[in-house]
Amino acid sequence: MEDNWDTIADWYAAHLDRGSPMHDFARDALLAVLPRDMSGARVVDLGCGEGLMTRAVAARGATVVGIDPTERLVEHARSIEAADPCGATYAVDDGTTLATVSDSSAEWVTAGLSLNNVPDLEAALRSVRRVLAPGGRLAFTVPHPCFEAPHAGWADSGDGTSRRIVGDYFAQGFWRSANPSGVRRAGNQHRTLSRYLMALIAERFAIEVIAEPQPDQRLIDHQPHRAGLPPFLVVRGRRCGGPAR
Ligand SMILES: C[S@@+](CC[C@H](N)C(=O)[O-])C[C@H]1O[C@@H](n2cnc3c(N)ncnc32)[C@H](O)[C@@H]1O
Repeated sequence: MEDNWDTIADWYAAHLDRGSPMHDFARDALLAVLPRDMSGARVVDLGCGEGLMTRAVAARGATVVGIDPTERLVEHARSIEAADPCGATYAVDDGTTLATVSDSSAEWVTAGLSLNNVPDLEAALRSVRRVLAPGGRLAFTVPHPCFEAPHAGWADSGDGTSRRIVGDYFAQGFWRSANPSGVRRAGNQHRTLSRYLMALIAERFAIEVIAEPQPDQRLIDHQPHRAGLPPFLVVRGRRCGGPAR
């Protein structure tokens, strides 16, 4: 049977519970483009999973709701909240529609490694725009489109170092990693860098931050071959007035 988010939900929650340097690095890279003090801010964490980012945003003082279509992950998020409350709430919902979220009800939408799981990026950005108040912001991470394209791998360069091999950059759409212990064995969507940025521009987001964070020491210690490339792309955009283009 092929995996999907339902079949890997328990594994993913346990993986993060053990402490994943890669996921902690991704969370911190997204936190780096958010205000340190988010007191009073209303935040929607799109594709919250078991709540890694949701809890971090709540810890900055925000009122945050995490939404995710994978019921089992929302159950995990709720039981972590019950065991160690930080004020985060959760709903089962799809990032494409954000049907449980009212119009203009949030100052921020965060999306940690989730927009690459949404099948219709443009529909998701329309929904993000709908739920953001004027001037509200979207901040997201995705696997770096240039280096994490479908079936990218590592090659031994012969001098003890590894080089990234990327071949299918233009192969946009759904793909599934063959790595039996990788998250993307559940399948995910590849999009080019320009596709992400142009979709934001089309939805009238002013791009404020683009970052390609260098792996931190903990991640390098865990995966030394990752030292020379950014695993993630970080983008922050502000919702501008007027109709989408
Ligand atoms: C790599 S996990 C990231 C979870 C969390 N943000 C984190 O940083 O740990 C990707 C998440 O995207 C969610 N996802 C899949 N399809 C989605 C959709 N259509 N809308 C929103 N989230 C979706 C999955 O259920 C999963 O929780």
